[in-house]
Amino acid sequence: MKIGILTSGGDCPGLNAVIRGAVLNGIKTHDLEFVGFRDGWRGVVEGDIIDLPRSAVRGISKQGGTILGTSRTNPFEGNGGPDAIKANLERLGIDAMIVIGGEGTLAAAKRLTDAGLKIVGVPKTVDNDLDATDYTFGFDTAVQIATEAIDRLRTTGESHSRCMVAEVMGRHVGWIALHAGMASGAHAILIPEQQTSLEQIAEWVTEANHRGRAPLVVVAEGFVPAHLDQAHSERGLDTFGRPRLGGIADQLAPEIESRTGIETRATVLGHIQRGGVPSAFDRVLATRLGMAAVDSVVDEAWGTMVSLKGTEIARVGFEAALGNLKVVPQHRYDEAAILFG
Ligand code: F6P
Repeated sequence: MKIGILTSGGDCPGLNAVIRGAVLNGIKTHDLEFVGFRDGWRGVVEGDIIDLPRSAVRGISKQGGTILGTSRTNPFEGNGGPDAIKANLERLGIDAMIVIGGEGTLAAAKRLTDAGLKIVGVPKTVDNDLDATDYTFGFDTAVQIATEAIDRLRTTGESHSRCMVAEVMGRHVGWIALHAGMASGAHAILIPEQQTSLEQIAEWVTEANHRGRAPLVVVAEGFVPAHLDQAHSERGLDTFGRPRLGGIADQLAPEIESRTGIETRATVLGHIQRGGVPSAFDRVLATRLGMAAVDSVVDEAWGTMVSLKGTEIARVGFEAALGNLKVVPQHRYDEAAILFG
């Protein structure tokens, strides 16, 4: 049996560990053959593949990015669609696919499975916002990188008695902000799930300043302060359907400065959070998910995704991961907020 693996959507530390886990388990336990589609769905639609023998995955679990390349190609556009893809797979002798991706990728995988293709999924996102899995690989690494960067911002902020605003990833949810903010002792954490007024932010910043601290604000990129709602609706939405913000930290810094009188600087951490080597936790999780995905193929559990439930790897239907994002629950934010100011 020949299996095609693809990585789709934004890259994420741990992708290569999934590929290695799948290939090694498949070759050693089930005598399977593997190929990789290049650049996500593009490789599927265009039949662009590379062989994945055991030697291709040697030592790759500690490498960032993905050896297969990735893209945000929609498999239903252009020359895509279920019939064309089926014909490609037949021509290439590929029996089934392991699709590693986030919500958009898994939604496409579900449509293709419904049309008769043999697919199993592996959830992926640094944002940790996929439902039906307790954690996604890449999140732990992103939090670690963000925390290290924020610790550095803190020492320069303290030297200059400045307020530092650090913007982290999190398009729809604030998991990275919550965890990196808690880990670095932020005086305010701002996330998309919580409407926080500029007055409240200024209060936390002033409080920290009065205690002789250099205030530290951690904000998720998708955070929308109440007063900017109107402006957003006028500026429309970007390709992900989120308000066109253009760097929320850059917008917040002058607002904080004018309300508190404290000199304020903004830093956007951006893609640095997705680059480089995955943490040990992410390598282990990703490896286990890759291995389990191959077991799902052998069991012909088409239309399912492997997921982390507590400490065990489970199987859930694609639909369980789609629709609802896993948001930061109120009690987790309230718990963190006790530490603000
Ligand atoms: O979904 C993961 C993510 O890193 C988001 O946090 C971020 O908004 C987005 O991807 C960035 O996408 P791109 O790399 O395509 O700019």
